[in-house]
Amino acid sequence: MMNLDNEQKPFRWGIMGCGRIAVKFFTALSHTGEGLVVAAASKSMHRANRLQRKTGIETIYSSYEAMLDSDELDAVYIANTHNAHADSALLCLERGIPVLIEKPITQNAKQTERIIAAARANNTFAMEAMWTRFNPAVIKLQDVLAAGTIGEVRSLEAEFCVRMNPLNPKMRPWNRMCSPRLAGGALLDLGVYPIVFARMVFGQAPASISSSADMAWTGVDKSSQYTFEYSNGARAQMQTSFVKERPRIMVITGTTGSIHMTGFHGSDRFIIRRDGRPEEVVQCDPSGFEHEIREVHRCLKAGLTESPSMPLAETLETMQTLDAIRAQWGMKYPGE
Ligand SMILES: NC(=O)c1ccc[n+]([C@@H]2O[C@H](COP(=O)([O-])OP(=O)(O)OC[C@H]3O[C@@H](n4cnc5c(N)ncnc54)[C@H](OP(=O)(O)O)[C@@H]3O)[C@@H](O)[C@H]2O)c1
Repeated sequence: MMNLDNEQKPFRWGIMGCGRIAVKFFTALSHTGEGLVVAAASKSMHRANRLQRKTGIETIYSSYEAMLDSDELDAVYIANTHNAHADSALLCLERGIPVLIEKPITQNAKQTERIIAAARANNTFAMEAMWTRFNPAVIKLQDVLAAGTIGEVRSLEAEFCVRMNPLNPKMRPWNRMCSPRLAGGALLDLGVYPIVFARMVFGQAPASISSSADMAWTGVDKSSQYTFEYSNGARAQMQTSFVKERPRIMVITGTTGSIHMTGFHGSDRFIIRRDGRPEEVVQCDPSGFEHEIREVHRCLKAGLTESPSMPLAETLETMQTLDAIRAQWGMKYPGE
């Protein structure tokens, strides 16, 4: 059921990349009641057909350009592999079509700079689909930190480790998770979440970074750890992996208390602990892609070319941090 202002027509979305996450986006968009996916494009007609069978999307294309030239779209969701995000986004931005680009926005900071330049040159909206930033629990968490509930924040610890069965198709060397050609690896796929979280909590880039990685034979990291030190002496410690399982816990410690969030990148609650007080459970509305999608609609209606909640300058800073970490390991993707 559409739930729009009288004069607002439903937003017409296209999808580039007909894989797993495209289905999740399709469902979330329909839940917003504010728009619908009218077209999807893939490099493979087989994948486009499969997505159409699963979702009933009206029109499918076997070329991204064909979709952009044929369908009148209000926005495009870019849901292909990390190496392809930049070129796909540029195709849209050069035609003045707004983009929501899956995480990480690109494979390196140089590509992000090209996206930002194209968005500005064409006065067109662009945002990284960092959905966690729009989840109600994360919005509430920011309010709690800003109110000084746990005092001055001194440290953050976060782990995002998911053990994938070695026989899982995602572990095949040509799969996006493991392939250098597709800009795979735990850092870009999973590490970006705690790193974006740390940037949000500390409000600045780290002053220094130390990191290490266990490399897969394909040449990407299968597990990696990062420690960030900030100019005020605070510190963030993070680890990610797709070969070992650990509780997906985040703990933020301040001078007068701490905040604990389990399953942090998609959680709808967190716990506040303070000395001498009972533990406080903060329960929020469910998380999901709906919140980031509504933010895109809100920005488009307001004529904004970027989201004040997930600004492009911050996204670029995150990509620079990912580049700096990879440089410490000498991990390059083809063409870099
Ligand atoms: N926000 C989240 O929670 C979340 C979760 C999972 C993934 N993601 C992100 O979403 C994006 C897509 O992830 P996914 O899980 O949907 O990936 P996927 O199902 O493996 O593939 C998505 C699309 O990427 C292209 N692709 C995949 N493998 C390829 C290959 N070997 N060679 C060339 N192209 C290939 C295809 O695009 P075409 O159809 O155009 O050919 C495919 O349809 C990534 O950026 C990922 O980091 C986000």
